[in-house]
Amino acid sequence: MSHGVKKPPMKTIVILGSTGSIGTNTLDLVDRFPEEFRVAGLTAGSNDEKLEGQIRRFKPRLVALSDASAAARLRQRCEGLPVEILAGQEGLIQVASAPEAELVISAIVGGAGLVPTLAAIRSGKQIALANKEPMVMAGKLMQDEARRHGVRIFPVDSEHSAIFQSLEGHRKEDVRRLILTASGGALWTLSREELQDVTPERALQHPNWKMGAKITIDSATLMNKGLEVVEARWLFDIPESQIEVMIHRESIIHSLVEYQDRSMIAQLGLPDMRTPISYAMRYPGRMPLDLPSLDLTEIAKLTFCKPDHDRFPCLGLGYESLRVGGTMPATMNAANEIAVEAFLNGGIRFTDIVEIIRSTMDVHTTKDVETLEDALEADRWAREKAESLVVALAR
Ligand SMILES: NC(=O)c1ccc[n+]([C@@H]2O[C@H](COP(=O)([O-])OP(=O)(O)OC[C@H]3O[C@@H](n4cnc5c(N)ncnc54)[C@H](OP(=O)(O)O)[C@@H]3O)[C@@H](O)[C@H]2O)c1
Repeated sequence: MSHGVKKPPMKTIVILGSTGSIGTNTLDLVDRFPEEFRVAGLTAGSNDEKLEGQIRRFKPRLVALSDASAAARLRQRCEGLPVEILAGQEGLIQVASAPEAELVISAIVGGAGLVPTLAAIRSGKQIALANKEPMVMAGKLMQDEARRHGVRIFPVDSEHSAIFQSLEGHRKEDVRRLILTASGGALWTLSREELQDVTPERALQHPNWKMGAKITIDSATLMNKGLEVVEARWLFDIPESQIEVMIHRESIIHSLVEYQDRSMIAQLGLPDMRTPISYAMRYPGRMPLDLPSLDLTEIAKLTFCKPDHDRFPCLGLGYESLRVGGTMPATMNAANEIAVEAFLNGGIRFTDIVEIIRSTMDVHTTKDVETLEDALEADRWAREKAESLVVALAR
């Protein structure tokens, strides 16, 4: 930090999904700035071993595991330590709304993050949002609740962080388009025929980012970009007709905003999630991160092209879900989660993923999402429908 700059005040945080890729990157930042962040709570799904290490290192008062037997194991591992260990969704909710927490980093993967993230919003916590699926399932509800409770939702997704930064200091009425960039994922160069026989190992080889398995498969199908279009619609309160997607293989330009005068503002950087996470954690300040600098002369060339909806139809489903509205995005999201899990377990082919999502959406009767229960009910319905399609397609 340069001489004379005031130290940021201490912030108490909770990390939902602390054992995942975003969670561990967040803790890396806490490690780098121990005088700035105090960890009040951590949560995970079932990884009691990793959570134990985090408890010993960061000393949270409260933790929760969604898996009750993992929580029982963790209690044994942590006997004698000053930490309360909770279990199940109730446990996650308690950690998300811990009274001393000011900022909640929402980094659970999938729809499982909706209830705890909403609980954090309803208890007035500021949110650093990586977990995009809740925004897809119930974006309007989350934003309405955030407004009601005086909460700001700071994007962590690199594309949305880039747009957030490119919008700063500008007037909303001057925005013409948001342009989300997409790397194209691990399988961008494959033909339709080749995509059919792709293995999970192959689809998990993302060219630029090291992330959890689910989002890496979503990147390979381009469903990740479909989810991000929905996320952008609610984060920035902008209709889908003004949100575009561009393939940019190098993941250097993280996204752009075009203004009415045709000027474009973009945010650039090497792909490292610690940059957008740190911006959400210290907004409006920036952390002096000791990371490699982007050297454009070394990169020399950046490439761009249009998405290929024929080989990667999931992106189009994201737009379609927004046009239909109501519970359709939640339905799409749930069907995708089931299909991706089945693909990762070797149960279905890569190209079956989109078929399962589309077939589930085709038979869904949409209703408005007025309450949390509306979103959860659509989620349950779509999971059941998609499961039956997985069984029918099982290899
Ligand atoms: N990774 C990235 O670079 C990146 C970038 C942009 C956005 N995002 C978004 O951030 C979110 C997290 O992604 P990730 O890559 O960090 O995922 P990840 O590595 O798979 O980590 C997921 C976290 O969620 C926990 N979890 C899984 N299922 C759960 C459940 N049913 N209930 C409660 N907790 C559960 C996991 O606990 P266990 O370890 O116990 O399973 C882990 O802590 C996703 O929504 C993703 O789209 C990620």
